[in-house]
Amino acid sequence: MKCRVCRGPAVIDVPRHNANFCAEHFLRLCRDQTRKAIEAFDMIAPGDRVLVAVSGGKDSLALWQLLHELGHTADGLYIGLGIGAGPKGRPNDEVGYSDVSGEHVRRFAASKGFRLLEIDVREEHGFDIPTAAAATRRVPCSSCGLTKRHLFDRAAIDGGYDVVATGHNLDDEAAVLFGNALQWNTDYLARQAPVLPAGNGFPRKVKPLVRLTERETAAYCVLSGIDYQVEECPLAAGNRHLGYKDLLEQAERRSPGTKHTFYFGFLDRAAERFRSGGEGPGGELGRCAGCGAPTSEETCAFCRLQARVTGVGDVPVRITSTAGVGR
Ligand code: AMP
Ligand code: FES
Ligand code: ZN
Ligand code: ZN
Repeated sequence: MKCRVCRGPAVIDVPRHNANFCAEHFLRLCRDQTRKAIEAFDMIAPGDRVLVAVSGGKDSLALWQLLHELGHTADGLYIGLGIGAGPKGRPNDEVGYSDVSGEHVRRFAASKGFRLLEIDVREEHGFDIPTAAAATRRVPCSSCGLTKRHLFDRAAIDGGYDVVATGHNLDDEAAVLFGNALQWNTDYLARQAPVLPAGNGFPRKVKPLVRLTERETAAYCVLSGIDYQVEECPLAAGNRHLGYKDLLEQAERRSPGTKHTFYFGFLDRAAERFRSGGEGPGGELGRCAGCGAPTSEETCAFCRLQARVTGVGDVPVRITSTAGVGR
């Protein structure tokens, strides 16, 4: 196996590109693919202040480093979700998923000298994701996704950042697209894009890793010595999204490039067709009575969730997005 670029010994094959690479040229490929995504979708302008949402997993740590390598100013934001080691993610005496994830993020940030912001949901909002899941009787990923999106937006607006970047990769985006297409969620299909523009009180949101698969971001971390949280979230086990990923992986094995063609073909040739009926949260939004976030209701979904879980206030909770593509 020889590197496509230098003909030296290769360390990884990338069937999608029908090529093998040595470590140096694989890392360069990852940088090039990230730069290409950023440029093609106008994700980040020179001088923009970027807030990278970092979970401690391979994708977001790789993204944070890649953004610095590409010359962007990027601070990190870690959200402690309070997912423990007990049954259903409840805390017990053992070190849990969130503790370990947080440690990975802090160690990485310290080793690179990157600036890290942290929000602990339990300390600052009086609940954690396992408790929220129990109180809402929904899959944990619903309240988790809602909480993360809300806190990313707020931290970016409060901190004066131009853009929030997340580590969603090609596998994530293709699986969400697959799920939305299977159910013909046309609203989500209209909004599924690697960049959501700022507006209505929301910051711009970008996904610069859409041209890399999770196998590639994992290899990027290993080859550049990034020590990441290898465990998957214990609360996500068995969810639908992971099932769609497996199906797409099977198709990819038989026919390398399937995920890329599916996702980028959708963006190039189909996405526009779902947009005709008007896009996103229509019209001007009001401001949440509790926290000031943009919302079409009196209080935002996050404040309603918090009230429901902590028992403070008496507001019905309604979670409308589980697909991770809504605002
Ligand atoms: P997930 O929804 O877990 O697939 O994560 C998708 C992206 O959301 C990650 O790549 C991160 O950018 C971000 N993210 C997930 N969990 C956290 C967290 N606890 N704190 C900050 N960012 C996160
Ligand atoms: Fe959100 Fe697991 S990280 S439910
Ligand atoms: Zn090489
Ligand atoms: Zn609110």
